[in-house]
Amino acid sequence: MGRLFVIEGVDGAGKNTLARRLVSAWERDGLDVVRVGFPRYDRSIHADLAAEALHGEHGDTSGSVHAMALLFALDRKDAAGEIRDLLSCNDIVLLDRYVASNAAYTAARLEQSADGEAVEWIRALEFERFGVPVPDVQMLLDVPVALAAERAAARESADAARTRDAYERDGSLQSRTSAVYGALAASSWMSPWQVVTAEVDPDRLAAELANQPSGELKVTP
Ligand code: TMP
Ligand code: MG
Repeated sequence: MGRLFVIEGVDGAGKNTLARRLVSAWERDGLDVVRVGFPRYDRSIHADLAAEALHGEHGDTSGSVHAMALLFALDRKDAAGEIRDLLSCNDIVLLDRYVASNAAYTAARLEQSADGEAVEWIRALEFERFGVPVPDVQMLLDVPVALAAERAAARESADAARTRDAYERDGSLQSRTSAVYGALAASSWMSPWQVVTAEVDPDRLAAELANQPSGELKVTP
């Protein structure tokens, strides 16, 4: 049975780059690794509807915090079987965003903290009711919100197809999301967490994740 690792962070944190580096390191060590990103754009109708809503379509959908969270959650519900299959035939399944994204953004939109009702609603909905697999380790890529915002803006000017969505334009939401993420990590929400910075050595992080039993991880960023 493979291990389920997750990378979390605000928009523009650099999750994609960290994920690529971790996968290369694990593959160099001969491990079978597969990477899945949420929302699963072009594969999940729920993910596509959520993205369209965040770009102004579908009426007042994006205005509803809970409707948005349900769309993201339904994408994962549909993926649960696939993730279990991938875990059964790989050493590592690496997820770029997962349930904690829904917990952090939903709580942040509602101006709640990590121990509020929204986080508990997401936990009960996704892990209990939908039965999505629980991660072995969640990583928080913790970068200054201003730097992440700069990256999201730079992506937009470099690529017309990547116009910033409603969440990416909302600096205050990104700051609150970052705070909720920090608290989820501090409380070991649903798994042990590793908080890493942009300066983390991906080879060392990959080795420590792969070699140590979960729950006993020690990584110095
Ligand atoms: P993306 O930026 O990774 O493409 O995701 C789109 C936005 O949706 C991003 O701001 C994070 C947010 N989001 C949630 O609110 N809940 C979720 O479950 C996921 C996967 C993303
Ligand atoms: Mg984004």
